[in-house]
Amino acid sequence: MNILVAGGAGYIGSHTCVELLNAGHEVICVDNLLNSKYEAIRRVELITGKKVKFYRIDLTNYEESKIVFEENHIDGIIHFAGLKCVPESISVPLKYYQNNIDSTFTLVRLMKEYNVRNLVFSSSATVYGNPLKLPITEDDPIGNTTNPYGTTKYFIEKILMDICKVDNTLNVAILRYFNPVGAHPSGLIGEDPNGIPNNLVPYVTQVAIGKRPYLKVTGNDYDTIDGTGVRDYIHICDLAYGHVLALNKLVTNCGLVIYNLGTGKGNSVMEVVRAFDKIVGHEIPYKVVERRVGDIATCYADPTKAYKELGFKAKYSIEDMAKDAWNWQQKNPNGYEE
Ligand code: NAD
Ligand code: UD1
Repeated sequence: MNILVAGGAGYIGSHTCVELLNAGHEVICVDNLLNSKYEAIRRVELITGKKVKFYRIDLTNYEESKIVFEENHIDGIIHFAGLKCVPESISVPLKYYQNNIDSTFTLVRLMKEYNVRNLVFSSSATVYGNPLKLPITEDDPIGNTTNPYGTTKYFIEKILMDICKVDNTLNVAILRYFNPVGAHPSGLIGEDPNGIPNNLVPYVTQVAIGKRPYLKVTGNDYDTIDGTGVRDYIHICDLAYGHVLALNKLVTNCGLVIYNLGTGKGNSVMEVVRAFDKIVGHEIPYKVVERRVGDIATCYADPTKAYKELGFKAKYSIEDMAKDAWNWQQKNPNGYEE
């Protein structure tokens, strides 16, 4: 199939392009490179030995985006294009609502105009807010979000649900990612955060390589195994492959479907740090600091539905995630350099 990958130069998008190309799909990538570099696409081509058709376009611009639909026959869209920095979304909420929701409007409008029936949307476990029970299933309540970033995901989910209610020819897969980490085992593509990383794993690898003096463990007084926050870390390649499976589901004319993409297993911050200690070969220095505002104690998926309906099962362990994240960091100490 011809798949338009919106935001395909980013972290999850680039890994998904690899899985799509390996599965025999053609990839048309649209990205404004606001939070990514074209080099990621070049490396996707290097890994797969296949070409990616690339457009540098801002998807909030309807007229420019239309060109992509004019020039290509598109069978399905995977929509990664969005801003994702939680603290930034708190300081500039309008930028987040505008970018994330407008880019979605452009895509669904063009889908209708060009008769594209299949869409995969990148949502997040953040839509569950502070979970009422664990593990989290897809029918648990959503919307109790703790920041504007999370609220954009919730709003977009609602928009897609409403559209599907009145158009039963549309097939939409909402994928709620848990915590994607790691990198492609080749070390050619990986996570390339701007400035100081917000998320745990890129911060740990930057400490390991000596770019930052120590990890700040944000709270060790949670009601968890060792007091530090517990999350469901999923290897980026497992997550990326989940999109290929979601597309397979969409072409069965399934209408709207929602899946958690996680491993079903929670690991604490200290468990992650210990996994890195082993891989890196020395102890990662850390200090315990205050809890991060808006953080929750524990979050992990029930991945049963994705397993039963998509055949999705994460195969990489937390050690694999640490190994591949460290390999990427070592081979690309300054991320993608162009
Ligand atoms: P990323 O920032 O690496 O990738 C997003 C890409 O979208 C970037 O290349 C960026 O340049 C592009 N983009 C943003 N706005 C655009 C626009 N208006 N037009 C065109 N391109 C635009 O982020 P990621 O980690 O790869 O995440 C991909 C998606 O998955 C995002 O929607 C994110 O919110 C969601 N998600 C990510 C995580 C995570 O932990 N990384 C977790 C849950 C959900
Ligand atoms: C965060 C976002 C979430 C987003 C997800 C993926 C918040 C509140 N949530 O999730 O909306 O979908 O990233 O991008 O930002 N930690 C440290 N030290 C650090 C960084 C993190 O100890 O320097 C701890 C956190 O307290 C948490 C765990 O590590 O317990 C994971 O944090 P992180 O990687 O930021 O992911 P989430 O908070 O789960």
